[in-house]
Parts: sequence; C-alpha cells; structure tokens
Amino acid sequence: MEKQCDFSIIADQTDLRDVIGCVLEDGPTEEPIHVIDLDDVVNKHDIWLRQLPRVKPFYAIKCNDTPGIVQVLEMLGTGFDCASKGEMEKVLGIGVSPDRIIFAQPAKPIDSLIYAKKHGVNLMTFDGVHELNKMKKYFPEALLVLRFRYDSGKSFASMGDKFGCDAESEAPELLRQAKQLGLNVIGLSFHIGSGGNDWKSFEGAFGVARKSFDFAKSIGYDFTLLDIGGGFPGARGKPLDPYAKHINEAIDTYFASYSNVQFIAEPGRYYSTSAVTIVTNVQSKRLVKYKDGHELMFYYVNDGIFGSFYSAGHENQPVYPVPLKKEGRIKQSAIWGPSCDPLDLICKSIPLPELDFGDFILFENAGAYSIVIANQFNGFPLPRVEAYIRESTRYRIWQRTLADGFD
Ligand SMILES: Cc1ncc(COP(=O)(O)O)c(C=O)c1O
Repeated sequence: MEKQCDFSIIADQTDLRDVIGCVLEDGPTEEPIHVIDLDDVVNKHDIWLRQLPRVKPFYAIKCNDTPGIVQVLEMLGTGFDCASKGEMEKVLGIGVSPDRIIFAQPAKPIDSLIYAKKHGVNLMTFDGVHELNKMKKYFPEALLVLRFRYDSGKSFASMGDKFGCDAESEAPELLRQAKQLGLNVIGLSFHIGSGGNDWKSFEGAFGVARKSFDFAKSIGYDFTLLDIGGGFPGARGKPLDPYAKHINEAIDTYFASYSNVQFIAEPGRYYSTSAVTIVTNVQSKRLVKYKDGHELMFYYVNDGIFGSFYSAGHENQPVYPVPLKKEGRIKQSAIWGPSCDPLDLICKSIPLPELDFGDFILFENAGAYSIVIANQFNGFPLPRVEAYIRESTRYRIWQRTLADGFD
C-alpha cells in the first residue's frame, strides 16, 4: 500500500473486509480504529450528481472532518458548510477557495466574522436582528442568507429549537430591517433536522421559501440562493431517491418562475455515514443475573459515548454492531463503553454470540457525528483513523482536479 495525502491507495479489487482484516492482524488495540472507505464517499457524490443535478452540495464538515474525507470532497469539487473559524481554517488550509464556503452558523462570534471577511468567505446565514447589527458593524459587504425554521419533527436532532426565524411572524420584519441597514440578503436557508426519514418535509419547506422569495421581491430584494440544508440519509440501504424526487418536484413546482436561483444543500451524514466502520474490541465482560430471573451479558469495549458514540447515547442515532465471531451461544447482551460513567452505554440489549476478551465488534455506518465529538474522558485514547481509496478512483478524481484546474 502506497501512503499519500491522508489516505492509503489500495488495489481496485480490494474489499473493505480485506482491509479490515489487515488492520486486525496486529491484534486488539487500546484505541478504537475508524476504517474509512473513501470510494464510498466518491460513490455518494456520483449518486448526488445524478439525482440532484440542480443542487450543489456544500459538505457540512462538522459531521466528520477527517482529512481524508475532506480532501476527497475537495477534489470532487463540492462546497463546504463551515460553522466556525476553526472549520474555515481547516477547509481554506487545504486550498479550497473561499467562494466554495458557506459560513452556516447563524450565531457567529465576532472574531470569526472578522476572519471570514479577511479571508473572503462572504456567504453566511443569520436569523435575528442582533446578528444583522453585528454584520453591519463588522462585515457589511457579506452576502446574507436568512435561515428560517422548518422542522420535520421526525429527526434525531431537530434544529428549530435553536436556530431559524419563523417565516411568517419574523422573516418579513427581519428582511425590512436588513433593507434599512443596507445589507445584501441574497436568499434563504432551512434545515429540516438531522437524521430521519422525512423526505416529504422538503416540499413544505420549499413552499414556505417561495412565499418569502415573493415577499423579498416586493421590498426590493432579488434573491438568487436557496440553501436546503442537511437531513439526507447516509446509512447503507437508505437511498437518496425519495428525497431527490421530492426536491426535484418542489424545484419545478415552486421555483419555475425564478430561473436565476441557485440551489445548494449542506449534507453531512449523507457523505460520511456509510464510509466509516469502527473497529472495537472487548476489554471485559460480566454476566448479570437479575432478580426476575433474566440474564444479560455485559461487554465493555474500547469505545463509547465519550468516544465515537455520543450521538448514539444522546440523539438516538442508530448503531450497527457486527461481531466478527459468528459461532457461540447467542446471549442477550449489552455493549458498554470503557469509562466509569453509567451513561456510557452503546447498545442496551441485543442478541450476540458469546464473545471473549479481545474479540472484535465492528460498528458499520458509523461516520456521522462520531469522531468529531470524541474526547478523552477517563483517560481513554482517541480513535485512530485508517483511510483507504482504490487506485482507479484516486486516479479518476485526481484527473478531475487537473481538468478543473485548467478551466
Ligand atoms: C446548519 C447545518 N447544516 C448542515 C448540517 C448537516 O446535517 P446532516 O448531517 O443531517 O446532513 C447541520 C447539522 O447539524 C447543520 O447544523
């Protein structure tokens, strides 16, 4: 394997399980390992381009900022949704031009605003009058996007409790205020919520957006951007098709008369979920016998909710455990993380063949909101990353980058 960038290049015919097999050859490690299949990220992008050709993706780097993933998306030409100065630094640092970034954080620290201005990151969201005044003072030339609230109500993480104005009771006044301040509002954004199965919400959100576009026109704004946020599925077997169908129909239904509008999205989990498999191993076990007679086998593994599984513990994000060992008596089991905190529970109760110390449990579809949140609570190590790309895929995206360079 040839090491290059932050990923290794492997032969085309290599299966991810072979790669994982190589990683496991060294035996159980203290740190969990994130094995990343970058071909999966490239495939996702191909699907996006085929199904949503009118919507440019700006990858939400908050979801997984592993350098290999970010580098590949850079080469594929996506934009990036950054939420902080640190994320902007990271993306600009690998050579992304500032016009490929949206600073999609409605509540911005002043120094991040000054940083954005200095580095030419002009596009950013807002959702309140105080933020407008801040923008007027520190970055009056910014291209502003008003974020409104449209929660699907079926997501692991709803956004509307924290961000987004009400499109009817607040947006008109905010737009009038922006006009009075002489600020350049160029469009709208929304986020239906992260992680759910709710493609139908997009249609309603487009309808609301269209009304606000019309209102904006009536007060002299000529909007050119609609940012439809994240909320797309990322796990294997969860297709983009129904989302694409509803979004394409909504574009035709609500925006046929707005031919100059650019549509963008901020997918996070769509790109990174299925690319990542976490390799954990059993460090301890205990058979618990409850008074009512039932038994549960507790396994303590080397990753937990203070590591890669925060979102499983706090946001009901599903986990996909796969023990490598298939034989053995099936026992109802719980999988705990390594810390002393009783919240550190990954799986409450699942059937597993009986495992031993050092046996591996893989967690598939584990790339979203996992490593980005990991900390070293109780002194346990952070996950290690091993990212791979197949030779011909690397060649293909490298050629594409060259071609773009000559445009
Ligand atoms: C503003 C914003 N955009 C995009 C995303 C990414 O959402 P998802 O991972 O559901 O695509 C998030 C997630 O928190 C977000 O807050």
